[in-house]
Amino acid sequence: MARFKITGGTPLHGTVQISGSKNGSLPLLAATLLVDGEVVLRDIPDISDIRTMIRMLKALGVKIEPREDGALSIDCSNITSVSAPYDLVRRMRGSFYVAGPLLARFGEAQVPLPGGCVIGSRPVDFHIRGFKALGAHVEEKYGVMHAKADRLVGTRIDMDPRFRSVGATVNLMLAATLADGVTIIENASREPEVVDCQQFLAACGARIEGIDTTTLRITGVERLTGTEWSAIPDRMEAGTFLIAGALTRGDVTVEPAEPERLRIVTDMLAHAGCDLEMGERSVRLRMDRRPRAVDVVTAPYPGYPTDLQPNTGVLMSVADGTSVMEESIFDARFNYVDELLRMGADVRVMEGAAIFKGVPQLFGAPVVATDIRAGAALILAGLCAEGVTEINGGSLVARGYEDITGKLKGLGAQVEVLPEADPEIVDPECLP
Ligand code: UD1
Repeated sequence: MARFKITGGTPLHGTVQISGSKNGSLPLLAATLLVDGEVVLRDIPDISDIRTMIRMLKALGVKIEPREDGALSIDCSNITSVSAPYDLVRRMRGSFYVAGPLLARFGEAQVPLPGGCVIGSRPVDFHIRGFKALGAHVEEKYGVMHAKADRLVGTRIDMDPRFRSVGATVNLMLAATLADGVTIIENASREPEVVDCQQFLAACGARIEGIDTTTLRITGVERLTGTEWSAIPDRMEAGTFLIAGALTRGDVTVEPAEPERLRIVTDMLAHAGCDLEMGERSVRLRMDRRPRAVDVVTAPYPGYPTDLQPNTGVLMSVADGTSVMEESIFDARFNYVDELLRMGADVRVMEGAAIFKGVPQLFGAPVVATDIRAGAALILAGLCAEGVTEINGGSLVARGYEDITGKLKGLGAQVEVLPEADPEIVDPECLP
């Protein structure tokens, strides 16, 4: 457990290297279970969620070796178990992604149901309904999903259009790649991380039409073969550093980045008064004044990412004017707001939305991070606050951000990592 101590007020300056995407790497790692042969994955970030996924794959018998060039060599030819350990699934919901590939390739998957989550209700009913539609016999008993099928059979799966679930799209498309016949997935997620996984699967020999659309048509193949692939840059990390630049009135360049896939975030920052310059694989932000108020609604891609909602809330809390944030994906994602109030913000949370009356200045205070993104938001709040902010629960942030303190220091921020003051405040093992 770690605690961050941040002395605010220093404008961030410089270029920050963005790591490979967490949410993109998790599906890629799970997808390797489908592949007969060696897969080499590059740019997989060194963060605790990825280490959890690697432990999960190893527990199933997967051989994973880091290569000298930093890539991971993954060999799934000797799977020894189709049963995922509860201890790993409860640490990270993304480990439920192993269900689809195990079921498709080995005819069976026993995966604990992931359970509760601090950012809101996160059932896996869409995943399970999809497995059933593909012909699996699924039982949910004693907290475990047990799915079996001699061979999955292609079908039409209509997902809930309100959510376009990322996780269910990944799990079901992974399962469908080895099913008999054609599977149509309607209302699929188009998040860049999902699209990258589709492109990886296609490079392994999967037959997927409709890549990067909300209707996927997947024709099952007998086997997938190995390839080399690089995870895309993490757009949540890039967005976090850009917002940090805006909050501290700095000059920050993020690279590598995919400017097109960050457009909704850079548009918001431009509305707030930032000066943005898009390179081919980079974005530079300059800001020299108090941000203007902005209104944001989170939504599935290409809408505004819910994972950047807390960071954007920090920007709103110091903006000139009143901003409205509508959260349409997770019902409890405003849990960082109470901590911001302790730092002097003026925010009222209503059902599904929050109204931020911008204050000219936040003030440092001891605060508690409750999840990865809330933790990042409190770091940003600390960077622009007057005085010292101590963020307890810092290791939650390490689940999703590679070397966040080193990267912030490289931009000139005053950050220290201290031992947790009260280890009982949060137990990261129990959080999503
Ligand atoms: C993924 C991301 C997470 C991001 C979220 C939304 C990963 C590892 N995590 O989470 O960072 O915040 O997408 O972009 O990539 N739902 C159901 N039943 C289901 C599945 C989902 O009701 O079976 C609902 C959820 O409660 C939620 C909404 O659908 O309200 C979207 O969830 P989903 O897109 O599945 O999020 P995750 O894949 O869990």
